[in-house]
Amino acid sequence: MTGIVVAVDGPAAAGKGTLARRLAAALDLPYLDTGLLYRAVGRRVLDADADPRDAAIAEAAARALTPADLDRTDLRGPMADMAASAVAAIPAVRAALLDFQRAFGRDRGAVLDGRDIGTVVFPDARAKLYVTASVEERARRRFLELQARGVAADRSQVEAEIRDRDAQDANRPVAPLKPAPDAMLLDTTSLDAEAAFAAALDLVRGRL
Ligand code: C5P
Repeated sequence: MTGIVVAVDGPAAAGKGTLARRLAAALDLPYLDTGLLYRAVGRRVLDADADPRDAAIAEAAARALTPADLDRTDLRGPMADMAASAVAAIPAVRAALLDFQRAFGRDRGAVLDGRDIGTVVFPDARAKLYVTASVEERARRRFLELQARGVAADRSQVEAEIRDRDAQDANRPVAPLKPAPDAMLLDTTSLDAEAAFAAALDLVRGRL
């Protein structure tokens, strides 16, 4: 039997992860943060002292990925962010990660968050959310998150990095960041986490 798939896409630091994880719990579905897959590939390439834009090395890293790679604690931070976005622009890397993502959601259903879940990975997902917020608000949230983790950060640099990553993700030829035509848009700029979750759950329930 095929389960219910909920796709949650959107730009960097839009709060997709928190939303998607809570949706999964509320709907009793497994949850997959697909950004972690690209982060883990990027990290493997950086560990090998290679350039994350090197297609052959990045593809080999994607094919060698193990579940333990996803548990690493160094998958977040400016270097990991940009390395993830660089490997994610390589078609062979995306192809190598596609089967895993589809298999994850196929049987029991799942909530997956990423950039291309509703457009490429699960174009037939039951419900598709495209979660956005203004770049200033996303930078503010990411800055606070870094501060809370004790990571030194500069607010304007955080915003510049988010803009760079959005541009790289939206302008790549393969699986670019964009809403699926049938996605429900949720702008969380003026919503707190609780209100965003309530709105998301309402939208998704409307499709179940
Ligand atoms: O969602 P997160 O910020 O962790 O994703 C890290 C990077 O991985 C993104 O900037 C994007 O380049 C890439 N990604 C992707 N497709 C996905 C999920 C993430 O290209 N489905």
